[in-house]
Amino acid sequence: MYKKIAKHIKEIIDFAPKLGIVLGSGLSGLSEDVKVIKKISYSDLPHFPTSTVEGHKGEYIFGTLCDVPVILMNGRVHYYEGYSMQDVVLPVRVLAMLGVECVIFTNAAGGLNKGYRPGTIMCINDQISSFVPSPLIGKNDDEIGVRFPDMSEVYSKEYISKLHIIADKLGIDIADGTYLQITGPAYETPAESKLYASFGADAVGMSTACEAVALKHMGVKLLGISCITDMAINNTEFVTTHEEIQKIANKTGNKIRELIKGFVAEYR
Ligand code: HPA
Repeated sequence: MYKKIAKHIKEIIDFAPKLGIVLGSGLSGLSEDVKVIKKISYSDLPHFPTSTVEGHKGEYIFGTLCDVPVILMNGRVHYYEGYSMQDVVLPVRVLAMLGVECVIFTNAAGGLNKGYRPGTIMCINDQISSFVPSPLIGKNDDEIGVRFPDMSEVYSKEYISKLHIIADKLGIDIADGTYLQITGPAYETPAESKLYASFGADAVGMSTACEAVALKHMGVKLLGISCITDMAINNTEFVTTHEEIQKIANKTGNKIRELIKGFVAEYR
């Protein structure tokens, strides 16, 4: 299906993107920095999954960011919405079929590392996707990737180093950590948080890792940035709500926006 959709998009717009950027909660502001060439709403694409979550719009934005041709994914779908994992990763697979070399993921996540605070920006240096089904289950499409793909470096070490250099230049503090994906939609219990932390996870969220597996399978280079919106561990004071998470994501979003612009400006 991703091939058909990519072909359909290519008939609408003749565009050679270098980078894809997946905008998580609180990051849609980045779209204001893009010189837009065309927007395509997910609902206008045949067989395309559309998000049902508040704060998650659904559209591809084609344009240039710092003179680099990019496609923004303004909104994604989540496994907890009831889609199959194949459908959840379909929008990012389409990015790869359209020719992006690199995808930058962003998301909101709960902090498991006790050194984090709401508002911490975490560069994802590894991930745990063992708590969600693999999007690669089923017949392998040998045209896009091998049956048993290597996952020893899901997120590009080179890009992680670059992001750190840019963060230093901009005076923005960032941490490095492992992201663990759960299905959601319920937030984790205190016992689950302890379990995930004991496995080495620094942050927990409901997206990204499955998309990263699908794109690593296709040979796309990846960078991931999490906005820690709440502390999932040691949190006896606050109840985690979607509204609170959106508030912190919006506040931290501007810094992540600057980081991404810095990264893209130096991308070649
Ligand atoms: N858990 C899962 N997903 C999240 C969280 C969390 O604590 N915060 C933001 N997204």
